[in-house]
Amino acid sequence: MNRLRDDAEAVVPQDDAAHVRDILDRLAARASCRDFDESLISPEILEDIVRDGVEAPSSCNQQNWHFVIVADPARKRRARDISGGNHHFAECSALIYLCFQKGWTHGNFSIVQSVAGACYHMMLSAHLRGFQCIWNAGIGDQVALREMIGLPETFDVIGALAIGRAKATAPKNKAPRRPIHEIFSWEKFERPSASCYPVKPAAAYPYWEIRNDANPYAEWNPAHWRWDQLADFRGYSVWAKSPLAGVYVSRRQGEATAVEMSLLPALPSGAKVVEVMGWGGTTTTALMGALGHDAQLTFVELSANNLSFMTERLRREGHDMSRLHGEVMVNGTLPQADGSVDLVVLPQVLEHMPAPEAFLDEVRRVLAPGGYVLASVRNMTSAYGAHWRAVEAVGAIPNQGPFTPIAAADLATWMHTRFTIEADLGIGADATGDAARLTGDACQTGRLYAMRGRRA
Ligand SMILES: Cc1cc2nc3c(=O)[nH]c(=O)nc-3n(C[C@H](O)[C@H](O)[C@H](O)COP(=O)(O)O)c2cc1C
Repeated sequence: MNRLRDDAEAVVPQDDAAHVRDILDRLAARASCRDFDESLISPEILEDIVRDGVEAPSSCNQQNWHFVIVADPARKRRARDISGGNHHFAECSALIYLCFQKGWTHGNFSIVQSVAGACYHMMLSAHLRGFQCIWNAGIGDQVALREMIGLPETFDVIGALAIGRAKATAPKNKAPRRPIHEIFSWEKFERPSASCYPVKPAAAYPYWEIRNDANPYAEWNPAHWRWDQLADFRGYSVWAKSPLAGVYVSRRQGEATAVEMSLLPALPSGAKVVEVMGWGGTTTTALMGALGHDAQLTFVELSANNLSFMTERLRREGHDMSRLHGEVMVNGTLPQADGSVDLVVLPQVLEHMPAPEAFLDEVRRVLAPGGYVLASVRNMTSAYGAHWRAVEAVGAIPNQGPFTPIAAADLATWMHTRFTIEADLGIGADATGDAARLTGDACQTGRLYAMRGRRA
């Protein structure tokens, strides 16, 4: 428990201590909400929230921020579409767009720091008033947005605060925080190495050169990451969304996963299945749908944070949770005993690992004789591989962490060395959207390459 009052210093008068403690506890209970009930909040209250927010400090007291409140239902739907499908933009009571004037700002993005302070102050005001919020940097296409809110060229918009009332069924979980001693140090910098992520070697790392779609420093090759760094990255960023059913599903991924599942073998009753790093529960959900009703599925992830997210999300997907449980894998070693598993599923995850071949050895270790492995990879020797090199890999690392596609022929060689291959399949003829099944000579040309192997 945080100390509030030290008798030697006695900053907070004794009479106030309980009250102050209560306010701090209430502020600490704030959690982002992405599942609103579409009810309205009166314009007066929204204006009061903005009024509270501008009590925040601003650089040189210029207060060069501007907030555009969007509450009209048709415009909120337009905002949702511009954002690329943030459904909470349409369902919240109002969006407050975070804008600032350009040309008059000082160094170190001081105007951005000021707007951020005001935004958080508005969040706390809304929270104490009993509403819920979500702060979004992901607001979508700037041109369309500028047009919608009529923003002049001398102003920028950098985010949107969505305020509303949570649905009664909305998740209540709060995203986990790092242990406090990992994120501060006295007098000089000290930080656990697992939370310092690899970057490409460079003389300096000026942060103003970094954009989502152009990041010269992001290290996409997981061979340059350690398992504990990957665990740290994935464990916190899976909480970048709420554990709602359907979260982290893209149309492209959904259709391809369904094709991948067609390679699943027939399993004995009560079969033990292990899925590794299942995309925040997205592929776990597909797998549960495809497996027989009495299979037991263990989902393995790198951090307890992933397990808490996935457990809540899988519960909300309506699965029978008595057939599902999560376990943490430390340093690339599966928690399962030798020869104990009937099927291991690796859904486009080998390309996220520091040493994918070594991990296939690990899969072989835990498989029972006659047990199966279903492995798929994003294929470097496909149109997608070219797209990855030219577009994706020059941007920022996504929430699932660094990955580098694997050549289909490499996966084939690694799998043949360790398993008897029963089936393989290419998925997707193009770089992006489709989930076409590619067989025969074409199977190693697909966006994805999937194989089913069996342990002798
Ligand atoms: C500057 C900033 C930008 C954010 N952008 C987004 C976003 O675009 N989409 C989203 O779903 N959440 C966004 N968030 C919310 C964070 O994911 C969230 O605050 C974090 O996971 C911690 O969870 P908590 O707010 O429940 O404590 C943003 C938060 C901040 C501070």
